[in-house]
Amino acid sequence: MELPAPLRQGVDSLLEKVPLPALRQAARTLSERYRAELRDGRLHMGEDMAVKAYLTTRLPATYAAVRASLGALAGALPDFQPKSLLDIGAGPGTMLWATNDVWPDIELAVLVEASAAVRKLGQSLAAGAIGARVDWVAGDATIDLDDAQPADLVSAAYMLDEIAPASLPKLVDRLWRLSAHTLLIVEPGTPAGWRRVIAARRQLIDAGAHVLAPCPHEAPCPLVPPDWCHFSRRVARSRLHRLAKDADVPWEDEKFIYLAASRQPAPKRSARVVAPPRAGSGKVVLKLCEPDGQAGEHLLSKRDGDLFKAARRADWGDALG
Ligand SMILES: C[S@@+](CC[C@H](N)C(=O)[O-])C[C@H]1O[C@@H](n2cnc3c(N)ncnc32)[C@H](O)[C@@H]1O
Repeated sequence: MELPAPLRQGVDSLLEKVPLPALRQAARTLSERYRAELRDGRLHMGEDMAVKAYLTTRLPATYAAVRASLGALAGALPDFQPKSLLDIGAGPGTMLWATNDVWPDIELAVLVEASAAVRKLGQSLAAGAIGARVDWVAGDATIDLDDAQPADLVSAAYMLDEIAPASLPKLVDRLWRLSAHTLLIVEPGTPAGWRRVIAARRQLIDAGAHVLAPCPHEAPCPLVPPDWCHFSRRVARSRLHRLAKDADVPWEDEKFIYLAASRQPAPKRSARVVAPPRAGSGKVVLKLCEPDGQAGEHLLSKRDGDLFKAARRADWGDALG
């Protein structure tokens, strides 16, 4: 999944004259901080070069994950046409661009972001390129959301992992209260990201939310460690990305997990493919999470008729049926 052309062009021009040694160092530091899930009171992207490292090495991947999660949300609730977005930990505007791609008629987007350096570059990327009115709000989402207004779609992408675990239940509660319609959480597709998402899922279901995606049910997650629920998107690495990360491979697989929880139930519940399909001649094995709350592998063959045809086309993360 590619970045929208105006975003790609904006990012390219911001990175045009960046000195490679400084970008490399910033990319290394950023990657180490994310990998360690470091919470030392400093923002990972507190200064300009760290944001540029994020634009180079992370934005294409987080955009792909966020866009895929929004696609699943829209697939589960085809009539949903949000007019307002409230995005928390907005970074350079990843969710803004992805929602603009799915619902170009959004009228108002409020983006809460703690880092001034991130807000500055995000603002310059979106200026004049997005139809909605966009308000960038400075603040710490764990303490400063009291003045926030509810929005049709509330979101937090790749953000909960930067919050102290003890503060998460209160933040999730706040985000749900602000969700006039639907809340979308996206996290890295690691076991820790999945644990954060299933804790939020339990809390939201207890608060009366309907799960739209990825799970087609509100029963406890049937996956048992060391297994965990996650999805993947293949993302092309730019030349600058490869140089900044000393990477040879021209692509990477971004693993992510998400949860779309809504005040409105999905009109229909379809099984979700929760692992890469294994296809053979005349058959395919799909691991499915099903509306009855069970998950397991199913062998489908030509004898299954239309279901087999759909199964053969299905990819990891797709809804089946
Ligand atoms: C990994 S980035 C994700 C950015 C964007 N959502 C994306 O998916 O690409 C996390 C962002 O959350 C911001 N952030 C972290 N803690 C925050 C807080 N307590 N309040 C507001 N923003 C926060 C960081 O400054 C950073 O820009």
